[in-house]
Amino acid sequence: MKIGITFGTFDVFHFGHLRILERSRELCDKLVVGISSDELNFSKKGKLPVYNFEERARIVGALKVVDEVFKEESLELKAEYIKKFNASVLIMGDDWAGKFDWVKEHCDVEVIYLPRTPSVSTTAIIEKIRS
Ligand code: CTP
Repeated sequence: MKIGITFGTFDVFHFGHLRILERSRELCDKLVVGISSDELNFSKKGKLPVYNFEERARIVGALKVVDEVFKEESLELKAEYIKKFNASVLIMGDDWAGKFDWVKEHCDVEVIYLPRTPSVSTTAIIEKIRS
């Protein structure tokens, strides 16, 4: 069985999130999703998510294309998570293009960057609601 892994915050869940998860699942037989902890999101994006970790993990975990979710505590632990879940493919949106190629030196994994869905992001939705 081919196990795929992807990571993200998935705050204020939107169509771009659904599309990356659907496309990731097409590349494997089992999809595992690392959901950023609230603290990791703060360190990555300088803000706390609107929905807390438990809520974001419940939403993503309820999707039929997602087989398992777990808490991602640190970007540097990617290779450890890949080994732990026995993943053979790491899928990320192309806003991260090239940024996780280093994991290939630590484990036997293929790294694929998929194009982002145009014109939607959590940040844009929050801005739109605010204005
Ligand atoms: N993603 C995507 N298309 C979008 C938005 C996000 O494919 N339009 C992907 C990202 O590339 C990433 C995953 O969804 O692999 C989770 O992204 P996340 O950072 O949680 O969502 P964003 O909407 O980009 O959030 P923000 O605006 O806070 O950066």
